[in-house]
Amino acid sequence: MPRDVAQLVGELTLDEKTRLLAGADLWSTTAVERLGIPSVRVTDGPNGARGPMLAEMVEGEPLTALCVPCGAALGATWDVELIERVGAVLGEEARTKACRVLLAPTVNLHRSPLGGRNFESYSEDPVLAGRIATAFVAGAQSRGVVTTVKHFAGNESELDRFVADSVVDERTLRELYLVPFEMAVRQGGALGIMTSYNRLNGEHCADSATLLAGILRDEWGFEGFVVSDWFALAQTPLAIRAGLDLEMPGPARAYGPALVEAVRGGVVAESDVDAAVTRLLGTLDRVGALDHDPAEQPRSVDDPGHRAVARQAAIGATVLLRNDGVLPLEADRLRRVAVIGPNAARAQIMGGGSANLPAHRLVSPLEALRSRLGAGVELVHEAGVDISLTTPEVPGRWLTGDDGEPGLTVSFFAPDDLGGAILHRDRRDSGTAVWFGAPAASVGDTWSCRATATLEVDEPGPWLLSLVQTGPSRLLLDGEVVLDGTAGPLPPGHDFLGLGSRELTVEVDLRPDHPVALVLECTNPDGGLLAGAKLGVRPAPAADGIDRAVAAARDADAVVVVVGTDADWESEGADRTSMNLPGRQDELVERILAVAPDAVVVLNTGSVVLTPWAERARALLQVWFGGEEMADGLVDVLLGDAEPGGRLPTTVPVRLEHNPSHGNFPAENGRVVYGERLFVGYRWYEERHLPVAFPFGHGLSYTRFELGRPVCSATRLRAGEGIVVEVPVTNVGDRTGSEVVQLYVGCDEPLLARPPKELKAFARITLDPGETGTVRLELDGRSFAYWQPGDPDADRFAHLLATQVAWVRPPSGLGRERGWAVDPGAHHLHVGRSSAVVDHVVTVEVVDGGPVPG
Ligand code: BGC
Repeated sequence: MPRDVAQLVGELTLDEKTRLLAGADLWSTTAVERLGIPSVRVTDGPNGARGPMLAEMVEGEPLTALCVPCGAALGATWDVELIERVGAVLGEEARTKACRVLLAPTVNLHRSPLGGRNFESYSEDPVLAGRIATAFVAGAQSRGVVTTVKHFAGNESELDRFVADSVVDERTLRELYLVPFEMAVRQGGALGIMTSYNRLNGEHCADSATLLAGILRDEWGFEGFVVSDWFALAQTPLAIRAGLDLEMPGPARAYGPALVEAVRGGVVAESDVDAAVTRLLGTLDRVGALDHDPAEQPRSVDDPGHRAVARQAAIGATVLLRNDGVLPLEADRLRRVAVIGPNAARAQIMGGGSANLPAHRLVSPLEALRSRLGAGVELVHEAGVDISLTTPEVPGRWLTGDDGEPGLTVSFFAPDDLGGAILHRDRRDSGTAVWFGAPAASVGDTWSCRATATLEVDEPGPWLLSLVQTGPSRLLLDGEVVLDGTAGPLPPGHDFLGLGSRELTVEVDLRPDHPVALVLECTNPDGGLLAGAKLGVRPAPAADGIDRAVAAARDADAVVVVVGTDADWESEGADRTSMNLPGRQDELVERILAVAPDAVVVLNTGSVVLTPWAERARALLQVWFGGEEMADGLVDVLLGDAEPGGRLPTTVPVRLEHNPSHGNFPAENGRVVYGERLFVGYRWYEERHLPVAFPFGHGLSYTRFELGRPVCSATRLRAGEGIVVEVPVTNVGDRTGSEVVQLYVGCDEPLLARPPKELKAFARITLDPGETGTVRLELDGRSFAYWQPGDPDADRFAHLLATQVAWVRPPSGLGRERGWAVDPGAHHLHVGRSSAVVDHVVTVEVVDGGPVPG
């Protein structure tokens, strides 16, 4: 039932209003029970609705959730209908987690291939990112949840992310980085926006009136609420005046009591508080969240319909980069298949950080192939190389606690008193023994603990055991100290959102049927919020791994090599440091191709990587971090049950150094200078005539298409007018398949510097062999426009010129209005299948240039 929000706000006290504007805890808003305002739960995130807790922090069984392909993979679908279905599924998933706010989508651009969250975001191109975001938002919100489009704005790198200042000129912001947000708001009707941690041109985004009050609300007409990123540095008066409505997480730091004080002290107008509360409650009411039953419990619901959509998305995202007649494989002719690579026998389906979640299913490519090909086909597997940056936790089934149950039993003591009285007992289901906040009231914030179990592996070693700690810790096996982190602080590592140490490792010879007594002693002397340790285990890397892989490939009649990264190499909180595949993977691929030239190489990464051997690979697929259906989708594609639908959402350069942000990435002394300005991705490589490894928009099909001559609804237009371009497409191959027709606009004689051409429209069409269909590409007035920053000095110059030096020619920007503008003259429409493959160029004439509405 819709509520009278104005009346509700009128009835709230100042104290209640300011409490409402900050979270109650990590994942929920504050309730005002007196007036029937419930606490509303929120959940990450872009590749699944994880539910209210981070897996490693939850007590008991973690909630599982559907994991859909990562953002870059969704960008690679170029399929807005499919993404709307993905959004709807995640909206429904959020509801199963009793959540009404989904902290997604991530729409920051792939400015550098090294961006740590590139896997989470869609593309280097704002229009592709914007259309995918629009579809995602519309789908998710149709299920009664608010989406929070994030991270607004200029959050294209992770180094120093809480404080770094993104220095971006106005044109670049307007034409590139703000566009996906604008589209998600104006076209997708997004009801939430999450500000980013970073500063933008000197201002923290959570405090920026320019961004929030000005651009977002006044210009774009945004009607929803703005939430801060978690623990972002917001300043009470600035943030509330700018229009930041919800401080997350709780308890309040900038809002709550601090806001009451600011109002009472006359620093903040109560009307600003009222406006924020009205927006927050009004938005929650709009999706029915004020009727939410706070007693509703999150559930894990593995819905076959949802899985089917995740499978379509995984297939739709898979980019066939090269295929020299190798794919699809003929299943009937396979007798022995070698499945090689560090990611072949593991389900590497998502990146790291807040997007990470416990998926309903984990299926590796090896397992998926085994179950599809059946017992009649022999599968041999060799990892070849080890790429672990960190070690996975010891699985619970290898640990037996003192109570006979899988996992660790834990006793808590006072700090430095492991021999003293036990203050509390607890248990953990696996080798991760971490607590968020005080483990129990009887323990307090500082403590020490001893976790015990017997450890028994299920395959013979040698094994590598690892220890990651937040405070001094050590590991004993059969009474002997094997890992000791008590001597002094260790350098920071990748676990626990960067709060964990770098890992200590030791090689041990563990065997099945030989249990050993394990004791883990940890301390939290400083009262850290997230504290404990992680015990990891992985096979000790074999020295002859590549030789064994080569031998396996030599004897097989088909070879699939799954190389890539993982959630440690690609994670929120850190940028990548290289575009190369980690470890000795290039060497592995080269050696395999030398003996098995038809090997299918599969890139299982969240972002694009360099493949120096690509020209020798006859079949190359990019499957990204493809979500929980990735492996089965890969098998569908390998065997030709489905065709890979993806197109690259980001250019793969020949070298990292060719990338436009190189030299300006990531932050230097806290500043990230977007020095390449508008020339991001293909815009740059084309302007500089740089060769690329794979162009933006590239992706092959199992069939072939011809694009007929485009027909434009008009070839002469006025500034602000749009046109429709229809392109006939014929499937001239012998299989059903789909093509993505891409339209790029370039201007002949731009007044200001502009990239040679820019994506403005695209459409996917599926056709049977011999069939012809027509795609419709719509260009609106903005498709021809650029942002004219105007002349900030116009008044001063006009005065000087008129009064003193009338013979000086006025500066070129003088008198130009700030805003969107279209140049007069010829504009070229490049219609093709990638930024590099253009089938037709059609010229239209803009008869009168000038300003156009935003
Ligand atoms: C991330 C957000 C995320 C939030 C809550 C932050 O660290 O930047 O994207 O939604 O945490 O997990």
